[in-house]
Amino acid sequence: MEVFEAIEKRHSYRGEYTDDPVKKEDLLKIVQAGLQAPSGKNAQTTEFVIVDDREKIFQIGQMHTMQAMKNARAIILCIVDKDPEAVYEGYSFSVEDCAAAVENIMLAITALGYATVWIDGWLRLEKRAEKIAQIIDLPGSKKIKTLLPIGIPKEKLHQREKKAFTQRACFNRYSL
Ligand SMILES: Cc1cc2nc3c(=O)[nH]c(=O)nc-3n(C[C@H](O)[C@H](O)[C@H](O)COP(=O)(O)O)c2cc1C
Repeated sequence: MEVFEAIEKRHSYRGEYTDDPVKKEDLLKIVQAGLQAPSGKNAQTTEFVIVDDREKIFQIGQMHTMQAMKNARAIILCIVDKDPEAVYEGYSFSVEDCAAAVENIMLAITALGYATVWIDGWLRLEKRAEKIAQIIDLPGSKKIKTLLPIGIPKEKLHQREKKAFTQRACFNRYSL
């Protein structure tokens, strides 16, 4: 799939997945897309734990009421340092690095015919990120920033409506 088609097709998917597995070769391609994302000072701060063990997927998935979590065929966990190192003039960019990687990953997931949803807000409540960290033996210095369930979507949905170009973008001077 061409990149603009993937951008147009990507949408958050929270519904059921089919029973088909996510092929290992596809998981590798998907995470490779994340590794190739830009990062501040090329520090490449985001790490990934790919969960394809059914028992672990179950343990994580049953914490959520969302169908996509309950019957995910794989889950990608994006990991950042709790106390990220400054890489440029006292600034660290680990949150931005992670977001760039997540978008690349989402586009790769879409391009390969799977669907996902960017889960971050949910992780922050009720110590969910910490609970999942225990399941994957995450060291105390790291935290799970983003979680992405993956599978082949049962429902064929479209991208949600986005505001018009002219409502959010302009040329040369701010005129919105
Ligand atoms: C930083 C960030 C955090 C998000 N956290 C969650 C979340 O915890 N749970 C969830 O269901 N969706 C989450 N989303 C998905 C957004 O709700 C979704 O992208 C938005 O509603 C637009 O829909 P679309 O992705 O279909 O275009 C998150 C998205 C971003 C970018």
